[in-house]
Amino acid sequence: MLYIGLLSALICSLCTFVNAVYRDEAFNVDWQLSTIGDYRCIVPDYANENQLIILSDHSQSETLVTYINETNGDVLLRYAVPFKMSDAMLVSDSHQLILKGDGDNNKKYSTIDLDTGLILEDSGKDLAQTSDFSFKTSCAASGYKIENIDQKTRLKLMDNTMGLPIFDVELPDTFTEVNYLSTDYSQILQFIVSNGDSHYTYFNYTDGGKNLTATWNRDESLVDIVDSAFCDLKDPYIDTIRKELAEEKNIDDVITAYIFRVKTNFNRIRKYLKKNQYSPGRVITAILKENELMGNINEEKAYKRDLKFGLAKLLIVATKNGRIAALHVSQQGNIMWNIRTGMSNIISIDYEPLTDELIVIDEKGSFIIFTSINEHMPPTLKKEGSFKLSTNSIITKAKKLDDSHNSYFVSLENGESQIVGVDNTQIVNTSNYFLTTHNEKEIRGHIVSEGNKLVNTWGITLNENEKLVAFASRSEDPVVNVGNVLGNRTVLYKYLYPNLVSYATINENDRNLYINLIDTITGELLHSQKHSNEKVDIDHPINLVFGENWFIYSYFSAEPIPEQRLTVVELYESLEANTKASDPNVDYNPLKGNINKPEVISRSYFFPEIIKDLKLTSTKFSITSKAIIIKLANEQITFIPKFVLNARSKEENNMSDDDKKEFMASPYISSIPINDNFIISHQRELIMSANSKLVSSPTNLESTSIICEIGKDVFCTRIYPSGQFDVMSPSFEKFQLFGTIFIVIVIVYYLRPTVANKKLKILWLIKD
Ligand SMILES: *[C@@H]1O[C@H](CO)[C@@H](O)[C@H](O)[C@H]1NC(C)=O
Ligand SMILES: *[C@@H]1O[C@H](CO)[C@@H](O)[C@H](O)[C@H]1NC(C)=O
Ligand SMILES: *[C@@H]1O[C@H](CO)[C@@H](O)[C@H](O)[C@H]1NC(C)=O
Ligand SMILES: *[C@@H]1O[C@H](CO)[C@@H](O)[C@H](O)[C@H]1NC(C)=O
Ligand SMILES: *[C@@H]1O[C@H](CO)[C@@H](O)[C@H](O)[C@H]1NC(C)=O
Ligand SMILES: *[C@@H]1O[C@H](CO)[C@@H](O)[C@H](O)[C@H]1NC(C)=O
Repeated sequence: MLYIGLLSALICSLCTFVNAVYRDEAFNVDWQLSTIGDYRCIVPDYANENQLIILSDHSQSETLVTYINETNGDVLLRYAVPFKMSDAMLVSDSHQLILKGDGDNNKKYSTIDLDTGLILEDSGKDLAQTSDFSFKTSCAASGYKIENIDQKTRLKLMDNTMGLPIFDVELPDTFTEVNYLSTDYSQILQFIVSNGDSHYTYFNYTDGGKNLTATWNRDESLVDIVDSAFCDLKDPYIDTIRKELAEEKNIDDVITAYIFRVKTNFNRIRKYLKKNQYSPGRVITAILKENELMGNINEEKAYKRDLKFGLAKLLIVATKNGRIAALHVSQQGNIMWNIRTGMSNIISIDYEPLTDELIVIDEKGSFIIFTSINEHMPPTLKKEGSFKLSTNSIITKAKKLDDSHNSYFVSLENGESQIVGVDNTQIVNTSNYFLTTHNEKEIRGHIVSEGNKLVNTWGITLNENEKLVAFASRSEDPVVNVGNVLGNRTVLYKYLYPNLVSYATINENDRNLYINLIDTITGELLHSQKHSNEKVDIDHPINLVFGENWFIYSYFSAEPIPEQRLTVVELYESLEANTKASDPNVDYNPLKGNINKPEVISRSYFFPEIIKDLKLTSTKFSITSKAIIIKLANEQITFIPKFVLNARSKEENNMSDDDKKEFMASPYISSIPINDNFIISHQRELIMSANSKLVSSPTNLESTSIICEIGKDVFCTRIYPSGQFDVMSPSFEKFQLFGTIFIVIVIVYYLRPTVANKKLKILWLIKD
């Protein structure tokens, strides 16, 4: 008894050391690359010392205004103004910036108030009519001379009266242009130069140009990102083991193979002992350290862990103007390499891990294949060429068809579609390729026949006043569970027919929204639903995502009440529990048309913010419940786990006891709240463009999915739709746990002989 008391006291005393630490991962695992674009104008911010204001092009008709910290080049604030500028003039006393129009607009002016970021009403009109207004640019750097001495470029600044040099400083080798220069003509010289390749370097010289006190560099080349691909970084340790296993597999004789394994393992132990100088103390310390039981987790260890868990990835982005770059996902988006491909108007980039090939395609149908993708150096070129396009049209969309062959299904601008391949041999196995294309007016089914020809199979043409507004095909993730287990232990079977697409159309006359579900093999309509008692706002985005046996769509309803709606539709074999409409003995063949239709249940929710885009997360095995990533109109990103949007949920009063027992069951609440904890972009300011999109990649941790937003800015984070069930919390006190186990073993060793002794004494009726 005494020992047990002692033991529990000991354990409890250890327990008190276990303190739960809530590790806030915000700004720790997520990162943002804020690209400004090419600098059109740089002016000092007179209201705030050590800040610069940079103007750059944002879109066809917008200018981006960026405030940066002059000391380190960090972005402090950005906003877009709806005016495309060609030049600017700083009015320092009123802290305003007058923008001059671009192109045809070059007689127009617009004034930004730099304190509020607002465009002043009618300011341009007044200015143009004021006779004494003369525009004087604030964007040009002047008063300096560039000289080339001994193959070094030098920047010189002369004294106006005497003609003597005040400053004479060396410029980087890559110098092409001075973009900004500010000086007091005696001690201080600050300037920004560019290298003609969207890299900008800042210098702050003091002591008359003798002392370089600050310098920074910004890479602005990654604007207009059109596509991206993820590439898992390889764990070198796993590589050696894989090699050994492959070698062992090649040995036919079992005994030789066994000897091989023993030998390699023995060698490994010997190496390990040698490394620790054959000292048992060192070995134990090393083991403890390796298992993070001692010492802090340093950067190297953290990186090893990221590699093991598949969190270390490269996000390879391709920009419209032909650049590809690798961003390190687990290291704050560091640019590992950044190269020009020589292409223009890239439309797609794909990475194939099996062959370690990166294939980049441009809109004219040229392709480049790169190989040996890693984080240390730019990839090497493997092959270059052009697809044989049947017409002289340009590609609008390219979809990779299979893993091993580089064959693509491309849609051309003239409305045609085609299958093209890197090798012009028989590319795909014709018998099992069905493809669906769509545009605003029609949806078409195709089958691939001999010689990679596309043959039309079916088509749906919309009525004259109807428009296709959203389209989604069923995700190809593996099916983990064929049914939902209800609270009373019965099963509701999911409808798992794979060849499905759903699409949304709007009737522009009465603004009714129709949602249809079709079979992609036959084009047969399987389900249709209509929102006829409300009018949909056509100007707001309508989004659709398709998961396993459900799809979710969002739309903005203008009447009767303006409200953002989110609707979930779930497909079941039958809505009756334990009933399966399909018969396992029947050979279902979509070509024979004997596919069962699903039974459908649907629920609508209100959402408090306007939704711009939806995307589903992907995880390695699809066991984790999916999350719906939502891009809001205010450029924030949030997510809802799928189980919150449940088509079978009931109001709390209607829920039976059995209903409440169902896994993840929650009552129906018509309006989904936005919780601050679910805003994954935190208080970041993300600048997006019309083509920005969300991408998702699985990791080796089933719970964790990587989400990135690409386009103008790049933003990446990790999300855990069902919590981090497969990760030990950082506060988990491994040392205490192992310590307790160790003490328990010691006590048991001591206790056993004592108890045996006591038993023996009892047998002999000896009293203590
Ligand atoms: C600018 O950067 C410097 C150095 O990192 C920092 O000390 C300063 O607080 C920053 N200024 C602003 C306004 O963030
Ligand atoms: C430039 O260097 C001088 C001297 O160190 C310093 O006073 C000034 O604040 C610096 N300017 C910026 C923008 O870092
Ligand atoms: C350069 O300037 C910094 C800041 O003004 C000062 O601390 C440093 O001593 C100067 N270095 C030289 C070599 O003058
Ligand atoms: C096409 O698929 C069938 C069945 O899956 C297979 O037997 C055949 O070898 C494949 N043909 C090619 C060219 O891969
Ligand atoms: C189990 O629950 C479902 C849904 O609540 C109901 O339809 C079904 O009849 C129940 N089955 C049994 C055997 O109680
Ligand atoms: C709850 O039950 C009431 C009465 O049976 C019914 O009118 C209502 O539609 C039900 N609500 C839900 C969400 O099922």
